Amino acid sequence: MAYETIEVRVEAEKVGVITLNRPKALNALNDQLMTELGQALKAFDADEAIGCIILTGSEKAFAAGADIPAMAKYSFVDAYKGDYITRNWETLRSIRKPVIAAVAGYALGGGCELAMMCDFIIAADNAKFGQPEIKLGVIPGAGGTQRLPRAVGKAKAMDMALTGRMMDAQEAERASLVSRVVPLDRLMEEALGAALTIAGYSQIANMAAKESVNRAFESGLSDGVMFERRLFHSLFATQDQKEGMDAFVNKRSAQFSNQ
Ligand code: CAA
Repeated sequence: MAYETIEVRVEAEKVGVITLNRPKALNALNDQLMTELGQALKAFDADEAIGCIILTGSEKAFAAGADIPAMAKYSFVDAYKGDYITRNWETLRSIRKPVIAAVAGYALGGGCELAMMCDFIIAADNAKFGQPEIKLGVIPGAGGTQRLPRAVGKAKAMDMALTGRMMDAQEAERASLVSRVVPLDRLMEEALGAALTIAGYSQIANMAAKESVNRAFESGLSDGVMFERRLFHSLFATQDQKEGMDAFVNKRSAQFSNQ
């Protein structure tokens, strides 16, 4: 499919890479971009050969937020009734394969929220995260006030949402917003390495792990642990569990069939 605001490629026949591509607007997330992103994510999710997806931007900006000129004149009725700004953002939540955000440069507002909607974030050492919506007279609108405190705790989330200040990559790693920080020129190599590792595992086990970790953020501990237990037990119905454990016992590499 031909896209105008994103670029899509496949690496090593099993990793789908989506690059946000509106350089003149620092990858501001307009309706077209979010629609195309949703289409590309769904296509990779449905592609049997793809085991992991990487979402990235440019060296200067992962994304500088929702498109401000596009929404500047919206009324409450436009925003609420039409759900214009975030109507196509939920697609990312429905993707069942692992999605890694490889973030360089600015990840602000909706850009930070988009990165947080991915399963984990690998940051370049020039990455800057922030929720500066307060400076525009609004608040985060794509989950920032919910996912940021879950990631970094209340104090830092409040600090960022109320002052609009940016967090650099080192602070983001200390605060557990990102899983790793690497030099800018090694960002894609590191993300691809992680994606290839993941893509080498059972797709079924990957989906179950993702679903179960996400559950930790949407339920109490008892419900979450019970959910995990049920998924864990159900994986014993897969061939990949037999293969993975047999390979360990017999000291050989596992060959997963995603069955
Ligand atoms: N929307 C649309 N265009 C944007 C944009 C955005 N969010 N952010 C930057 N741009 C555009 C600029 O308008 C500029 O375009 P022109 O060259 O045509 O003027 C171009 O990108 C380059 O930007 P700057 O000249 O400002 O570059 P800079 O290096 O001086 O500053 C920046 C970079 C600090 C990221 C600054 O651009 C900035 O503060 N951007 C806005 C960040 C922001 O407020 N994001 C939150 C948006 S609201 C939101 O996301 C709501 C939500 O929760 C869903």
